[in-house]
Amino acid sequence: MRILAIETSCDDTSIATLDHGNLVELLTRNQHKHHRPHNGIVPEIASRQHGNHIHRLIQACLDQSHWDWSSLDAIAVTYGPGLEGALLVGITTAKTIASTLSRPLIPVNHLHGHIYSAFMDTLPTFPFVALLVSGGHCLLVRFTDYFECTLLGQTRDDAVGEAFDKVARLLGLRYPGGPEIDALAKTGDSSRVQLPKGLHQQGLDFSYSGLKSAVFRCLNSDNPPDTADVAASFQKAACDSLIDKAIPACLDTHTDQLVVCGGVSANSYLRDALHQHGEKNGIQVRSAPLAYCTDNAAMIGRAAHFMLQSKAPIPTGITATPNLTL
Ligand code: KG4
Ligand code: ZN
Repeated sequence: MRILAIETSCDDTSIATLDHGNLVELLTRNQHKHHRPHNGIVPEIASRQHGNHIHRLIQACLDQSHWDWSSLDAIAVTYGPGLEGALLVGITTAKTIASTLSRPLIPVNHLHGHIYSAFMDTLPTFPFVALLVSGGHCLLVRFTDYFECTLLGQTRDDAVGEAFDKVARLLGLRYPGGPEIDALAKTGDSSRVQLPKGLHQQGLDFSYSGLKSAVFRCLNSDNPPDTADVAASFQKAACDSLIDKAIPACLDTHTDQLVVCGGVSANSYLRDALHQHGEKNGIQVRSAPLAYCTDNAAMIGRAAHFMLQSKAPIPTGITATPNLTL
């Protein structure tokens, strides 16, 4: 089964080829330089950039895989959640290829892609709790089968990646802010600035608006702290609040596996701290490999492979679904 996978939900145009679920090639073109002058993603620019580059990237990915069009067995594409115009570029392209070649179209939920980015070269065992942390999502979900899950907690305001991006802007760092804060924090002292850890209330929900406002206030005080110390303190507060909910989510539901995925799972502090806390609590922590944390088509192809393997119902007549949930 040879799958061509397409991901265009946000600001990465990403194409992958997978053979029997194993990654053959992955090509991703990010659009950071086009969005940086605007301090964030401009949907119109994202769609135009996808449209300008998707066909060249698909051809390059097929060439590097040494595949021709006729060797494809199925086309997988992200149909949500994401930016409507950006999703439409991928969906329209995928539909055209699928109908021209008379091959099946496999519409993939981007969030399932993130979950299965942690299982690129191994099979999942159930149940597991997933901490999905990205620019658009901040979720704790318990999976009992490939596509059967229960929501345990979610953010009440900003997604954690969004908080990283907004705080980076306050610190004068460029977009996307997560990797910039991660790097700057390495030179700072997280004990020098006291910041709130987020939502202390019961339950497994998250909140980041208070933390972001606290950073704003301390940077605008009469005696603003060193920016590296602020970056380190913010990163610790943001990530500790994820850990403070993720570990109890596993313990409360008697689940001994925790999967962490999505762009923010690339954070070096979060990866180390989660593994340490997991070990202490008898929880096996599986982080998505760094190469597959941020948006990519390899994870979309892998999720499509699991849809076929598990005989999950394949949605038909799909269109771009910006607010698609799990
Ligand atoms: O999964 P992703 O590529 O896109 C969405 O589905 O949203 O995640 C992008 C987010 C951005 O907010 C970015 O700042 C954040 O992931 N990110 C990080 C790191 N690398 C990317 N956040 C913290 N530390 C990182 N090293
Ligand atoms: Zn994503």
